[in-house]
Amino acid sequence: MLDRPHPTPADPCLDPFALAKALSGFHFVGGGYVPGRNGRSFAVVNPATGIEVARAAEGDADDVDVAVQAAARAQKEWAKVPARKRGAMVHACAALLKEHQEELARLIALETGKALRTESRVEAGVVADVFEFFGGLGSELKGESVPFAPNVLSVTVREPLGVVGAIIPWNVPMLLMALKVAPALVAGNTVVVKSAEEAPLAVLRICELMNRILPPGCFNMLSGFGPECGAPLVAHPKVRKVTFTGSVETGKIVARAAAEKLIPVTLELGGKSPMIVFADCDFEKTVSGALTSMRFTRQGQSCTAASRIYVERPIFDRFVAAMKDAVNRMVMGDPLDEKTDIGTIVSEGQLEKVRGFIEEGTGTAGATAHVCSAMPTDPALKKGLFIQPVIFTGLGADSRLVREEIFGPVTVIAPFDEPEAVLAEANDSEYGLAASLWTNNLKVGLDLAHRLEAGLVQINQNLVVQANLSYGGVKSSGLGKEASLEAMLEHFTHKKTIMVNMG
Ligand code: NAI
Ligand code: MG
Repeated sequence: MLDRPHPTPADPCLDPFALAKALSGFHFVGGGYVPGRNGRSFAVVNPATGIEVARAAEGDADDVDVAVQAAARAQKEWAKVPARKRGAMVHACAALLKEHQEELARLIALETGKALRTESRVEAGVVADVFEFFGGLGSELKGESVPFAPNVLSVTVREPLGVVGAIIPWNVPMLLMALKVAPALVAGNTVVVKSAEEAPLAVLRICELMNRILPPGCFNMLSGFGPECGAPLVAHPKVRKVTFTGSVETGKIVARAAAEKLIPVTLELGGKSPMIVFADCDFEKTVSGALTSMRFTRQGQSCTAASRIYVERPIFDRFVAAMKDAVNRMVMGDPLDEKTDIGTIVSEGQLEKVRGFIEEGTGTAGATAHVCSAMPTDPALKKGLFIQPVIFTGLGADSRLVREEIFGPVTVIAPFDEPEAVLAEANDSEYGLAASLWTNNLKVGLDLAHRLEAGLVQINQNLVVQANLSYGGVKSSGLGKEASLEAMLEHFTHKKTIMVNMG
């Protein structure tokens, strides 16, 4: 630890505005908060009011170099710590994260506009769970013995890769960071994280919490823009593995840069996840499942959002009406207000992107836009990035709204008649992250589950990422898995073979 005092309080701080100010201008490198070397910063804005709440340090290649060197120095010692002890330390972070759950929830609500009760508090809880889960897996970094010859002992051992570069987005930044950092550390790597421009604060606070337990330099974080700070992190010669979550476009840039260095890369890149509803489903459960599947409480800003809903024709009209009613009952408002179900969109740019899709859908012949919920009326929220959820019907399979990731509160519902036809439509996508099926005919459900092109298929539920269930997509949705034991072993270690000839 650095010997100067931290700018942030030791105890949980329930005033997110004060905490945001205290976190202003810092990266976290080598065991302490450090100001950016170039002195530049950018605004962190509360999307509910449009008011600046903090400045974030604008990292560049120099900051990247300092952070990676710190991580590389720390890694040599960290790898020597027995795996189980490393796990115990990561596990101990979970307890601290739980103590600070409410603080982190409020801070993430402030910077991202995600509603505190329905989203932010949930995310802060899951983060602790992820640390707890991976913290218990130190002993699982096992190798194998290979029956080569009677006089030869042939074994494999799991070794860390070195310094891991982790690039995260803004939609669930704490959780997505945890899914990368916790397994990387338990496996003996050290990490440099590049946070998302829109949400640099809560993850920065987590660094300080983790640093109370982990040795300095194991865990470093830089804020900054993609090309100026993310790209040099991927390109740095001492970064030996990159794990990225974000858009397909940026994922390809990252993968190309990783290929230049011949280092492994894990990519989690969003989706266009279908939800298939059969007439024999449990109707009420499925309507409420559609709301959670679409992540309306997060303004649809989720890579697994059920943004294409296919409903068997006999219940189509009833389903659309029930969904409209249910979304209409959701309260949009100040993310920090306990009454609020739905907060804001994260940024002006995302809001424009979502509006573009809605305008295109509304202008399409034959399409109907069912605009739901009500805009908040509080004058303090006048400049907030709120948008009403929209359910579209009557759009064809070639519409951009059916094919592209919108990442907003917009879903398209279409009727279907035959299982084979809906399967073909569901699979007719560039993406393959997640899918859900809703039916009481498990024979049909399981058959389709096997044939859907997706990394995760759920029947009669649509839960978010769960610890120890491998998570990751096929097709343009990404490469590799996260969240599980296998993910830790496959993506954060390499297997070395050692042979001993005993004569
Ligand atoms: P993005 O993919 O551009 O940003 C994600 C992260 O990558 C950020 O930390 C960003 O700074 C970094 N980055 C950007 N350019 C980079 C580069 N050249 N080298 C290294 N790092 C770089 O996503 P963005 O612009 O925030 O959102 C655009 C769209 O991406 C969204 O509308 C949504 O469709 C999708 N998205 C998907 C997510 C997912 O969970 N899979 C998360 C966030 C966005
Ligand atoms: Mg971008």
